[in-house]
Amino acid sequence: MQVNTEASPAGGGRAGAPLRPSLSTLPVRGVEPPLFRRPLALIGFMGVGKTAVGKRLARLLGFDYVDTDALVEEAAGKAIARIFAEQGEEEFRRMETEALRRALEQPGRVVSTGGGITTREENRRILAAGAAVVLLTARPEVVLMRVRPIEKRPMLAGWPDPLERIRSLMQERAPVYSEYHCRFDTSHCPPRVTAEKIARWYASLEAVESNGCG
Ligand code: S3P
Repeated sequence: MQVNTEASPAGGGRAGAPLRPSLSTLPVRGVEPPLFRRPLALIGFMGVGKTAVGKRLARLLGFDYVDTDALVEEAAGKAIARIFAEQGEEEFRRMETEALRRALEQPGRVVSTGGGITTREENRRILAAGAAVVLLTARPEVVLMRVRPIEKRPMLAGWPDPLERIRSLMQERAPVYSEYHCRFDTSHCPPRVTAEKIARWYASLEAVESNGCG
């Protein structure tokens, strides 16, 4: 299996960095499980394709597909826009952390996460410790086309210039998207192709691990 050379390498894109979580705050306790045994988590801004790519990726790998937004909605019994309106963002974030923990409990899963999940340090630690983390990105203009209708997106609804809002939120969040093992830009790439690239990357981890010390 060939390693995909278009993918950014591990540890926030620093060439040559080892394939392991790079959160400096992460406490090292014993030997971490190999990356390829971990659930595969997709992180990134709204509209980068986490759901579309994630579903295809799960099919390709024969994994279950789990979506933290869906887990939150299921637990709350209402849509995310209503959770924000009735209980506020803080309560949504609390539920989201709970959903992330549950989603990562089992291996053999592709987990799509909400675009704001990495804004919480606690969530970044959970991801770094328990998932193979793939960051998806896309250009603001592409995101805008994909996130309509805006009314269903509480982080974007009500802003006079949605494109400007996307740009500034992306800029504000750039630091919280810096912890990943692999990154793919989906702006010009259909979900099927991105899913195939990620599957190859993940399979290459398995090959590397299986060829270890026998
Ligand atoms: C959010 C992104 C949404 C959802 C919620 C908050 C964000 O998920 O979790 O509306 O803060 O960026 P998607 O990225 O799946 O749209």
